[in-house]
Amino acid sequence: MSALAGHDWWHVIDLPDGTSTPGGWDLRPTAERIPWPDLRGARCLDVGTADGFWAFELELERRGAAEVVASDRPSPFQSRARRRFELARELRGSSVRYEECDVFEIAGSYDVVFMGYVLQMVRDPIGALESIRQACTGHLLLLDTVSLPLEAIPAPLARLDARHDGREWFVFNRRGLRRAVELAGWRVMAQTGVLPDVAGPAPQAQHASRSWKYRLGVRGRACALRASV
Ligand SMILES: C[S@@+](CC[C@H](N)C(=O)[O-])C[C@H]1O[C@@H](n2cnc3c(N)ncnc32)[C@H](O)[C@@H]1O
Repeated sequence: MSALAGHDWWHVIDLPDGTSTPGGWDLRPTAERIPWPDLRGARCLDVGTADGFWAFELELERRGAAEVVASDRPSPFQSRARRRFELARELRGSSVRYEECDVFEIAGSYDVVFMGYVLQMVRDPIGALESIRQACTGHLLLLDTVSLPLEAIPAPLARLDARHDGREWFVFNRRGLRRAVELAGWRVMAQTGVLPDVAGPAPQAQHASRSWKYRLGVRGRACALRASV
């Protein structure tokens, strides 16, 4: 049986043998749209890593980070995700280091911090962005869900409990995301348009892809930005 079987993979992660993990979310097209800074020689942190897609992406030879730490807060979700992270790390021969840590308790100093789809999950998003800022000497790369209905309104806005299940707090429009980052003391240097979420082969993604929004082609839900201290 394949080493990948029996795991409920969250991310599609490329492996050296040419296969990839059968995850629910394929972030590889999104990675091509991130406004990356020069990562050569950088010390990087991936906040809320789950299976580790962004940590492994930061480590990629072509991006050239010197050191990558993958972190996540302790939770039942994360103890399962950590097993998948460890397996992907082993199969990739990666030297990414794992630290159990909440975004509000980041210690140390990093040149670049990546945070993907975590801001929407914290009840104090500006406090989380301030917490990262005190541990960062260079760039923040922030990727988060944006509210498509609020995109139509030309003001910085957020929607509360956008998914109606209590698991998302604030989902901003692109102006709101930018303003939240600025209010936390960062300078926004680059921001993408709305990026499409791409489903992978896992069941949770097939569920998403059967929704009426997917069938109508409404898939753009995220936005990435790069900010400096
Ligand atoms: C939707 S997943 C995103 C995973 C990955 N970063 C990505 O871009 O696909 C959200 C992740 O944020 C983590 N998370 C939620 N609240 C957090 C917090 N307060 N501090 C650190 N991580 C947190 C969860 O454990 C989970 O791994």
